[in-house]
Formats: sequence, C-alpha cells, structure tokens
Amino acid sequence: MARLLKKRVDLSKMRARLRSGRPLGDEVRFLKTLFESPRLTGAVSPSGRFLARAMARAVGPVREGLVVELGPGTGPVTRALIEQGVPPDQLILVEYEATFCRLLSQRFPGVRVVQGDAYALRRTLADLADRPIRAVVSSLPLLNQPPARRAALIEDAFALMAPGGVFVQFTYGVASPIPRPASAGRFSAHATAPIWLNLPPARVWTYRADPNASAPAPLFSRLCEGADRMGEEWVGKAEAAGRLLRAKRGKLGAKVRAHAKDILSEARRRKPLDIFRNLPPRD
Ligand SMILES: C[S@@+](CC[C@H](N)C(=O)[O-])C[C@H]1O[C@@H](n2cnc3c(N)ncnc32)[C@H](O)[C@@H]1O
Repeated sequence: MARLLKKRVDLSKMRARLRSGRPLGDEVRFLKTLFESPRLTGAVSPSGRFLARAMARAVGPVREGLVVELGPGTGPVTRALIEQGVPPDQLILVEYEATFCRLLSQRFPGVRVVQGDAYALRRTLADLADRPIRAVVSSLPLLNQPPARRAALIEDAFALMAPGGVFVQFTYGVASPIPRPASAGRFSAHATAPIWLNLPPARVWTYRADPNASAPAPLFSRLCEGADRMGEEWVGKAEAAGRLLRAKRGKLGAKVRAHAKDILSEARRRKPLDIFRNLPPRD
C-alpha cells in the first residue's frame, strides 16, 4: 500500500516536472497558431523538455559548423541545443510563423532567426551557402506532407550539409517519418525508444548519409501508411475546429471551447500503437 502511494506521488511529481519549465503563455500561443494553421503547427502543445533534450543529444557535440533548426515554434528544442553546448551564433532557426519568429528573436539573443519555408531549404538558406552545416534538427510536422515532399526535404538538407552531417526529426508515429524507400541506399535511420514523458509520446529519428543503407521491410512501409493516415485524420479535426473558430471570431462560444477540449483530450489519450487498428487490409 505504502509502495503504491509512493508510486502515485512519484507520478504526480513526474507530471509536474513534465509541465514545469514551459511558460503557460507558450501553450496558449501554440494553441492559437494551431487553430489558425493546423497543418503547419501539427501539435497541440510545445515539446516537453525530455523530448527537446533527446533531440539535442541526437545532434551530439558541435564544435564547428552550423546547426539549422527547422520549425522551432516557441523554442523548447532551441533551448535544449544551447544548453547542450551549441553556441548561439552557430544556430540558425527557420520558422514560418511571424509571431513565433518575433518571440524567438526576443528569447534567444544572438541566434539568427530566418522567417521562411523549410521545404524550400536551399532558397531559404541561400545566403549561408559558404558556411558548413553540421546538423539539421527538424520539428516540422512531416506527416502532414506527402511522402515526396518529405523525401525532397531530407535530400536538400544533406545536399547543404558538410560530410558527416546528421538530420534529426521527431515524430508521434511509430514508423520513420522519412519514407523508408527514399532512404534505401542513401541514408541510415535510427530511432530512440519512445519518450513517454511527452504529450503525446514521441520518438527521435536520426538520419546519416550511408550508401549501404538497406531497403525497407514491408512491415515498415505499412506502418508508414498507418502513421500518415493518423496524421491526416488528426489534422482534419484541427482544421474543422479552426474553421469554426474563425466563423465565431470575437465571441469564443461554448461550442468552440468544447471542440478544442475534445481535440486536446483526444490527442493526449492517443497512443502510437492506435495506428495498428486503422491499417488497411492487405491487397
Ligand atoms: C510541431 S511544431 C514544433 C515546435 C517546436 N519545435 C516544439 O518542439 O515545440 C512545428 C513548427 O514548425 C513550423 N513550421 C511548419 N511548417 C513550416 C515550414 N514550411 N517552414 C518553417 N516552419 C514551419 C510551425 O510554425 C511550428 O512552429
């Protein structure tokens, strides 16, 4: 009994830890951006610090060269990268949303913020062409994009990176967010165990240039399809909520609040394994 009680206490401590260190204002900002552009935001709240640290660890020590972060949002991963030792003047943040860009510039003095499209990476980073890039760290909601666009993103990232560069990406799905067929013979892919202390739980994938990378197993391809479907379904709901919110702009009616609450609780309830239930039958 005493042990059970202690476990409960520990769990509540863990939950508190998970939430602390993230200003409440960031949650609100995030939710607002989610309603305005769900496909871009792709998450219900900023990443927790356990996930942010796992992203920073995947980059490894950076002594020279730039680290480019794609989709920094309110900056949890940026903070973890700086804490891990990436010098602010070697960090480039590529963010689409103007409000996030302003916030990042205030929050991280000395870090360069580029407002632009990460999927047009070569153009967005054109004026950095002469500086070697050591790592690209992405929190972009890749599963909201078609596989060809995701494959093009990683191609561009490796074309811009110095030899030995690394591409880091987190995902709420169970399969590689970079289509496995696109990686075969080009990039090796390695995933961490799920980071359960994040809402929702996520994995960090690390890709490196590797001409011997093996072809995907059929099971992995099927998992990718399932993960894609889950992303689509989720974004559809967020888009519907956004439309409702815009229609009622000015007076945030009870219906809108209830809808937002539903989305939040569903996103929190979902587990990565849910996608198995929705896999299409084999041909
Ligand atoms: C899932 S959020 C992650 C935010 C933050 N890194 C975190 O972990 O909490 C995705 C971020 O990517 C940004 N984003 C989406 N599409 C983008 C694009 N094409 N170019 C640049 N940023 C983009 C969104 O504005 C948002 O800030």
